[in-house]
Amino acid sequence: MIELNIDGKTVTAKEGETLLEVATDNQIRIPTLCYHKKLSPIGSCRVCMVEVQGARKPMPACQTLAVDGMVVRTNTEDLHELRRTAIQLMLLNHKMDCLVCPKSGDCALQDLAYEYGVDGHGFGDISVELKVGPYATPLIQYHPERCIMCGRCTRACREVKGIDALSINLRGSYAHIKGNQAICISCGECLHVCPVGALTQNVTHTPFRTHKMKKVRTTCPYCGVGCQLE
Ligand code: SF4
Ligand code: SF4
Ligand code: SF4
Ligand code: FES
Repeated sequence: MIELNIDGKTVTAKEGETLLEVATDNQIRIPTLCYHKKLSPIGSCRVCMVEVQGARKPMPACQTLAVDGMVVRTNTEDLHELRRTAIQLMLLNHKMDCLVCPKSGDCALQDLAYEYGVDGHGFGDISVELKVGPYATPLIQYHPERCIMCGRCTRACREVKGIDALSINLRGSYAHIKGNQAICISCGECLHVCPVGALTQNVTHTPFRTHKMKKVRTTCPYCGVGCQLE
């Protein structure tokens, strides 16, 4: 059994557990954005950074394994500054159209910007007009100007559905998600895991906010297995 200290609290962990998993199990909140519990962590957003005593620099809690004797801090002013910078950098290339974005009220980036007092004007604006090809399925609309390149959609398609119809194309301000219509099965898993309004449903054109949606359990009609989904 591994024993460590997080924010002054002695906690235990199992072999192979990350700091984020241990903290979450012990009701210690560490903010995240690119992490999703169903997916492998890639540590790209830098929002979950924590301080580990003896380490030269902060480490991503979603990727760092718990080690016996570790002393971890999740909530210092330096970490807040680091998180503010990470959010600010994401907003550099983000069209902040919350007024008309269906994800408003249910958006992880909007919530974090509010929590850390980031208004998006700190580092200016380097957004470019992107012309992207059609998304992997016509049932989902991709909005590159709202995409934070967290890679949740690509990992969900590959790791949860085993399909790999999505990839990250180009870099920097020009980076965007590229879909392969030939292999996509329109399952919606990518839409389900997107933390912001970069993927929206394209089935109904009646405007609605996602947080006002009522979820019901239903049976998937795709094959004969009859999986239940929400
Ligand atoms: S994705 Fe989030 S932050 Fe961006 S416009 Fe939509 S609600 Fe606002
Ligand atoms: S709808 Fe399903 S198959 Fe198509 S890109 Fe998204 S996750 Fe992959
Ligand atoms: S479309 Fe959504 S899930 Fe995919 S990289 Fe962009 S923000 Fe992340
Ligand atoms: S949630 Fe850990 S780096 Fe994004």
